[in-house]
Amino acid sequence: YGYTTQYDEVFDAIVWWMRDQHGAAVERDWITLSPCVVTSISLAVEAYSAPGDRVALLSPLYGPFFTFSRAYGRVVADCPLRVESGRFEIDFPALEAELARPETSLLMFCSPHNPGGRVWSRAELERLLALCIDNQVVFFCDEIHSDIVYPPARNVSLLTLPGAEKVAVVPHSIGKTFNCGGLMASFMMIPDPNLRGRFQAAANRFHVADVNLLGKVALETALSPEGAEYKRQLVAYLRENTRLVVERLRAAGIDAMLPESTFLVWSDFRQFGPWRAVFDRLLGDANVALSGGEFFGPAGEGWFRINCAHPRAQLLAAVDRIVAAFQAP
Ligand SMILES: Cc1ncc(COP(=O)(O)O)c(C=O)c1O
Repeated sequence: YGYTTQYDEVFDAIVWWMRDQHGAAVERDWITLSPCVVTSISLAVEAYSAPGDRVALLSPLYGPFFTFSRAYGRVVADCPLRVESGRFEIDFPALEAELARPETSLLMFCSPHNPGGRVWSRAELERLLALCIDNQVVFFCDEIHSDIVYPPARNVSLLTLPGAEKVAVVPHSIGKTFNCGGLMASFMMIPDPNLRGRFQAAANRFHVADVNLLGKVALETALSPEGAEYKRQLVAYLRENTRLVVERLRAAGIDAMLPESTFLVWSDFRQFGPWRAVFDRLLGDANVALSGGEFFGPAGEGWFRINCAHPRAQLLAAVDRIVAAFQAP
């Protein structure tokens, strides 16, 4: 377990996975290893914006995007997503105005989106990319959930779009798909040498541009034809899990978004009162701890995120307890 500096197989595995699974021609030089995507979020804020700059993001959104933007003294420029016909839509006019501001240096985006599991279309991503290029905004596109996508939805990696090489900064990880977040094994893909250099400089300041030996073995093992077969079976299983959970919740009068990606179901408990009381009832009566939506910004308050990555029987029993707890007089 000595220091592991030479382990080139990891880079071959990443290049193979991105080509085989996402049709992206990632070059080995683009890759920087990183302990986890949250580390990369923090480093990207530091590398691509200055104190007082605006960081554009679309809430509700995975909490650390807010946390680190604020921690570095950046202004969180929220362009909230709109809910239309039960799915999230981007407010393009608001985002366009935001990205056109000279102080906006970075767009923090999640593709597919957490929460809600929205898979963004090629047209939407192309529009975002064009806006970033036109306004010289760095496009951080968190693709950690991109392997778990339910047909007919199809993930479009930002790295497959012409022009992405100018502004794209894309993290990915095996933490979600292979349930090994604790091994701290993620990677950044940054085509532009200048942007890559800035990220690496930030990572080197904290000595975190690397992954430990176990993480490297996990990356090499997961990002392989065998891993692809595991993923294929996993996606089919999770798709049915999420479908069943949404079906049961909706039948009980609790609205929930049917995810096109992710093992997470974004569910609306606002009718049951303040989120803290709902959380206590979930825990006390249903014996289930859900992630509270306020972690995803003010737009998430009153919503809860149900993790469906469990054996089906255990998951459905928990959902039945939730339904019973809220149907009680
Ligand atoms: C969008 C998103 N990014 C990053 C993470 C965390 O990734 P990591 O464990 O690699 O920091 C999560 C986990 O929930 C996530 O949903």
